[in-house]
Amino acid sequence: MKKVHISASRDYDVLVEWGLLDRSGELIKEATGSKKAAIISGDIVFPLYGERLKRSLEAAGMETEVFVLPHGEQSKTLANYGNILEFLSRKHFGRSDVLVALGGGVTGDITGFAASTYQRGMNFVQVPTTLLAAVDSSVGGKTAVDLPAGKNQVGSFYQPALVLCDPELLATLPEEEFACGCAEVIKYAVLGSRDFFDRLKALPVSQQIEDVICTCVEMKRDVVAQDEYDRGLRQLLNLGHSFGHAVEACSHFTVLHGQAVAIGMAAITRAAVAKGLCSEKTLAELLELLEQYGLPVRCEYSLDEMYAASLLDKKLTGGMMHLIVPEEIGRCRIVAVATEDVKSWMEAGGIGR
Ligand code: NAD
Ligand code: GLY
Repeated sequence: MKKVHISASRDYDVLVEWGLLDRSGELIKEATGSKKAAIISGDIVFPLYGERLKRSLEAAGMETEVFVLPHGEQSKTLANYGNILEFLSRKHFGRSDVLVALGGGVTGDITGFAASTYQRGMNFVQVPTTLLAAVDSSVGGKTAVDLPAGKNQVGSFYQPALVLCDPELLATLPEEEFACGCAEVIKYAVLGSRDFFDRLKALPVSQQIEDVICTCVEMKRDVVAQDEYDRGLRQLLNLGHSFGHAVEACSHFTVLHGQAVAIGMAAITRAAVAKGLCSEKTLAELLELLEQYGLPVRCEYSLDEMYAASLLDKKLTGGMMHLIVPEEIGRCRIVAVATEDVKSWMEAGGIGR
């Protein structure tokens, strides 16, 4: 079993092993001491893996309840968050019990937010079932729901007690969703490792899955250890996200998160080239790798729509947006841009008509 230890306001382990799902009960019991668990999952994932998780929790002596959400970003709402809280209350859950998120980033984000606020905070465990959740969203404690005005507008920082990552669960992921996870993987390589980038070029992620998950989680561990609350360094993890969130919003979430991040990374790198901060060669290498993984690098929304959507993003501080700009593969910097100049960055990035 591979283990990455995360040091934050609450320390925990990320465990990575094939077949871990069937051992999850004993591991969750050991990490939390809880006697009762609520599995929160989606209507695609629960039928695939829910019963195995439930059986394992019950074999470890835990009482279980199940709450199933409709799948997709449209479920990450205040209404569903409220439904989870009502369910916990109806089923007499207390602070010492545990919420187990079985699913991708949507399930993890909403479950984490419910765990952080129900009775002022209860135990929480992540069992990621998408590549994106395994390499990024299940680690680091960002929890959230969306508002009609924008993504992740309501949330908290709340670390899980344990992350159980069983790569076997990724076998049923649709190809498009697997590619979305690859976008976040490529993000980590562009942020911090030329060597990792070259490994992703040489061998498909699917053929080095455990190493890829551990490499990304270790990189995230190092960032979270220094800036858990996203006041500086952690903003680097938003590479591709500022423009990406605008793409998601303009598409009414028909463009998936990982696809939007890919478009956002391509755009910010094109803008970096236009502004003399990055070489054409770096841009060409990035575009080639994104395309190798079946990811989009452009979108068709108007510049005005994209700009308006970007202003609703929460990454605005004092009228400035912090853009994460690649300088070369493995090195990025944070550039503070006045909101009125964001449009010119978008234009330089070739994003929007
Ligand atoms: P998702 O949770 O919507 O899952 C994608 C789709 O795959 C869903 O339809 C789901 O039902 C299906 N699915 C999940 N696991 C499956 C499996 N094993 N087999 C078959 N189908 C499966 O999307 P996602 O890409 O995992 O996460 C995106 C979300 O994560 C966004 O809301 C984004 O904002 C958030 N996010 C959060 C963080 C964070 O740090 N908290 C980081 C990155 C992204
Ligand atoms: N995925 C961005 C972060 O965790 O900060």
